Amino acid sequence: MKSRLFLAMIGTFAVMDLMVRGQNQEGFISLDCGLPIEESPYSVPSIGLTFTSDSTFIQTGKNGRVDKEFNKRFRKPYLTLRYFPKGKRNCYSLSVKRGTRYLILITFIYGNYDGLNVYPNFDLYLGPDKWTTIDMEGRQNGTDEEIIHKARSNSLDICLVKTGATSPIISAIELRPLKNDTYVTYSGSLSNSFRVYCSNSEREIRYVDDVYDRVWTPFFSPSFTQITTSLNINNSDTFVVPKSVLKSAATPTNASKPLTITWTPKPSNAEVYIYMHFAEIQTLQANERREFDVVLKGNFNHSGFKIPKLLEAFTLYTAAPVQCDSDGCNLQLVRTPNSTLPPLINALEAYTVIEFPQLETNLSDIFAIKNIKATYRMGIISWQGDPCLPQELSWEKLRCSYIDLSTPPRIVSLNLSASGLTGRIPPYLQNLTQIQELDLSNNSLTGHVPAFLANMKLLSLINLSGNNLNGSVPQALLDRVKEGLMLKLEGNPDLCKSSLCNPKEKKNFLFPAIASAASLLVIVMVVALIFVFRKKKVPSDVPAPPGMPVADVGHTSHSELSFLSKKIRFTYIEVQQMTNKFERALGEGGFGVVYHGCVNGTQQVAVKVLSQSSSQGYKHFKAEVELLMRVHHINLVSLIGYCDEGDHLALIYEYMPNGDLKQHLSGKRGRFFLSWETRLNIAVNAALGLEYLHSGCKPPMVHRDIKSTNILLDERFQAKLADFGLSRSFPNGNEIYVSTVVAGTPGYLDPEYYQTNWLTEKSDIYSFGIVLLEIITNRPIIEQSREKPHIVEWVECKIRKGEIGNIVDPNIHRDYDIGSAWKAIELAMSCVSLISARRPNMSRVVNDLKECLISEKLRIGESQEMDSMR
Ligand SMILES: *[C@@H]1O[C@H](CO)[C@@H](O)[C@H](O)[C@H]1NC(C)=O
Ligand SMILES: *[C@@H]1O[C@H](CO)[C@@H](O)[C@H](O)[C@H]1NC(C)=O
Ligand SMILES: *[C@@H]1O[C@H](CO)[C@@H](O)[C@H](O)[C@H]1NC(C)=O
Ligand SMILES: *[C@@H]1O[C@H](CO)[C@@H](O)[C@H](O)[C@H]1NC(C)=O
Ligand SMILES: *[C@@H]1O[C@H](CO)[C@@H](O)[C@H](O)[C@H]1NC(C)=O
Ligand SMILES: *[C@@H]1O[C@H](CO)[C@@H](O)[C@H](O)[C@H]1NC(C)=O
Ligand SMILES: *[C@@H]1O[C@H](CO)[C@@H](O)[C@H](O)[C@H]1NC(C)=O
Ligand SMILES: *[C@@H]1O[C@H](CO)[C@@H](O)[C@H](O)[C@H]1NC(C)=O
Ligand SMILES: *[C@@H]1O[C@H](CO)[C@@H](O)[C@H](O)[C@H]1NC(C)=O
Ligand SMILES: *[C@@H]1O[C@H](CO)[C@@H](O)[C@H](O)[C@H]1NC(C)=O
Ligand SMILES: *[C@@H]1O[C@H](CO)[C@@H](O)[C@H](O)[C@H]1NC(C)=O
Repeated sequence: MKSRLFLAMIGTFAVMDLMVRGQNQEGFISLDCGLPIEESPYSVPSIGLTFTSDSTFIQTGKNGRVDKEFNKRFRKPYLTLRYFPKGKRNCYSLSVKRGTRYLILITFIYGNYDGLNVYPNFDLYLGPDKWTTIDMEGRQNGTDEEIIHKARSNSLDICLVKTGATSPIISAIELRPLKNDTYVTYSGSLSNSFRVYCSNSEREIRYVDDVYDRVWTPFFSPSFTQITTSLNINNSDTFVVPKSVLKSAATPTNASKPLTITWTPKPSNAEVYIYMHFAEIQTLQANERREFDVVLKGNFNHSGFKIPKLLEAFTLYTAAPVQCDSDGCNLQLVRTPNSTLPPLINALEAYTVIEFPQLETNLSDIFAIKNIKATYRMGIISWQGDPCLPQELSWEKLRCSYIDLSTPPRIVSLNLSASGLTGRIPPYLQNLTQIQELDLSNNSLTGHVPAFLANMKLLSLINLSGNNLNGSVPQALLDRVKEGLMLKLEGNPDLCKSSLCNPKEKKNFLFPAIASAASLLVIVMVVALIFVFRKKKVPSDVPAPPGMPVADVGHTSHSELSFLSKKIRFTYIEVQQMTNKFERALGEGGFGVVYHGCVNGTQQVAVKVLSQSSSQGYKHFKAEVELLMRVHHINLVSLIGYCDEGDHLALIYEYMPNGDLKQHLSGKRGRFFLSWETRLNIAVNAALGLEYLHSGCKPPMVHRDIKSTNILLDERFQAKLADFGLSRSFPNGNEIYVSTVVAGTPGYLDPEYYQTNWLTEKSDIYSFGIVLLEIITNRPIIEQSREKPHIVEWVECKIRKGEIGNIVDPNIHRDYDIGSAWKAIELAMSCVSLISARRPNMSRVVNDLKECLISEKLRIGESQEMDSMR
């Protein structure tokens, strides 16, 4: 353990410095392990670093906190920790940049968090290779490990492996990208032995003084004499040693003696790299010179070394690794006979080489298996870190092939039999190109048998029996059986196992989308024409459409309406009063302008004033409005009154303070973006509202105008559908609706409509699918400048190209459960199927969305658990 942990508490820090020099933490990863997510992020002003909770980088472990008695000794980020009572190996998975050299610092502080006073002992792994053993015995002040490591891929696993009875713990993880031309090795990574600067101060120096956040601890010996300068030192060489480190130096107290530094590397025969940092900080007179031999006993003698320039940093380092004597490393700076001044050194770093010879499992296999894990939300605790390595810790339910250290292992068998899998067979399986056996039997898989299985030439066994697969088996796969493939399909009642089945079945499990923007335009125009046509034929006296809701008493959200329950009909004067003479318009909908209003001076309402020109001939206005008023559901905006006085028609709704979904997605309501969880919540609520209209009302009711501007949000971001029943009840409203479609955003309209002329529940599902795509992507439904102008085509194209990550709104910053996002995309795409019969019903939509929400909640759930830990 270096002294830095407790030195950090003494706290002489350059806060001023920090303010002047600003903060550039680009690429820094600073994780406070076990930090409750609500407390994340925070910044440590004394060092100018921002720490975040580790909870999004690991799915396992529990949060702990050091015992109260240590509260004074340690500071954040060392007060909390994550511990791992379950599983042999637990891994963090960090996003890094391939090829970049990182300074990785990991800190472990036990702090008697569990009250047992037993110091843990476990192994630390970097990717598939063991880094070191962490033995905390007697380390009251904790311990840390630092390494300079070049990332081999874009993801880095840091794993803790249980080796005995104690649970591994971890307190902080810090990653700092370095310049790629510093600390270069022939092979292996550099484990830090020490990094000191020669000063008798007690101040530890790191960020922001050090742009790479190397931690420099002061080091001094009685045989040293300190010299310092207040002059500015040029440190802009490749190593960028902090000026505050360089401004002091040590010289031997007896000027004729060498300056000697010794240490023992671990293990003693380790290969060592040494970095010596010099800056001449004494102004030399004309007759003075400082010249010395730099000698590492038994290794090298850099004779007659002179620091090149006054007040300029210079680093002398071992370009090749050296091995010290069996009695340790002995570095001497020996004054030459010609030198008038003793030798000098400002700072010194020593590292030992650790080889990480084991190559990770093939990246394409890792990609596939991680996506399968996400798709099925596999919670198997061994499924962390590298799937095949180390061999004794490889993932359950799969087998790998191993050749030698320098050949990446491959996954050759996957057995997810009886693993509770639901949903479809994921396309990622085809990326497991070396797989020979695939057992998915005894699950609840649905959908088709994918054709790609036939192209996986090494497969000799596929067991899909005991599922709910349907459709027909691809001919190509049946052909493979003739070549010796063992294909097990029994126990799938809806699956047709011969080639004689309906050949028209689409194998693609995502549905075809609208062909092009051109065809869309045609659809829209046809629809418009139909309406113009119908308008002429249909008399203004509209027959009550079939399927009006009947009274549905005793449902939800009555309380909020009670204040008006007796009074539902208002006079025009009252409407003027409640809106303060139509003072504040909230927006304009398809049927008129909506104003803010107040009833009884306290209750806020939204008043929709139907435009006068469209208010002709509403013979059924009162009857229909009173029917609509009886439709109550927590996810439907309640209609609480109306005004019907001559030409004046108005509808009075409950007020939704947070506006509509579209405003939130477009960022028009402040710069804060909806999280994935909030979006799913909104989707579930809206879906529940629509489900109620479709199957809770008797007879069922079609909304006909589902769009993101019709999904309103209350003060708790609870979503409610607005304007239900209007488009059917008010034909003039329909006309306006169609004309706005032509002018503005036609994308919501069911393309099947132009064949049937009638909007059904399935049309609502289509529109809901479009809303879902908006929620997921936050992109315009139609954007002509896009390669694929219509959102459905655009998403489909991205799915085909496998660019799933690019579908989801970048404002979420990938902070979501992949399986959940994937499922939501799939659901949205099934809702917008061109063939209405293929669209799911609302109950199914609600269920699927709830599942999405659950898996997202599970992902962030760990943080809630830790809250209760404290
Ligand atoms: C831990 O640090 C404290 C100072 O904060 C020191 O007094 C104590 O001796 C240290 N303990 C060990 C075991 O190093
Ligand atoms: C360092 O990175 C630069 C650009 O990022 C590249 O041109 C150079 O070749 C790299 N050097 C080494 C030693 O990798
Ligand atoms: C600092 O040193 C670098 C070379 O290490 C040099 O290029 C640069 O000009 C120097 N800056 C000043 C202000 O002297
Ligand atoms: C300094 O070192 C030299 C050579 O080792 C020795 O002769 C001399 O006595 C030392 N001087 C003092 C003051 O210790
Ligand atoms: C270092 O090498 C020089 C010249 O090769 C020699 O004069 C000197 O004695 C050596 N120093 C040590 C400490 O071995
Ligand atoms: C020592 O200095 C003398 C005269 O200044 C010079 O001739 C000689 O080469 C120097 N020796 C070394 C090793 O630099
Ligand atoms: C990993 O597997 C893919 C697909 O089989 C192959 O193209 C690639 O070369 C493999 N990578 C390595 C490093 O072997
Ligand atoms: C898969 O595992 C199950 C037990 O979990 C076993 O019964 C079955 O035989 C395995 N399948 C294959 C192909 O090895
Ligand atoms: C299928 O899995 C269930 C548990 O999920 C198990 O009880 C049953 O024995 C399994 N059946 C077969 C044929 O493996
Ligand atoms: C996964 O497989 C698909 C289809 O073979 C291929 O297009 C894609 O590039 C693969 N992805 C990776 C990361 O190997
Ligand atoms: C396929 O799976 C079923 C159900 O788990 C099992 O009964 C059967 O033996 C398996 N067949 C093979 C060849 O593994």
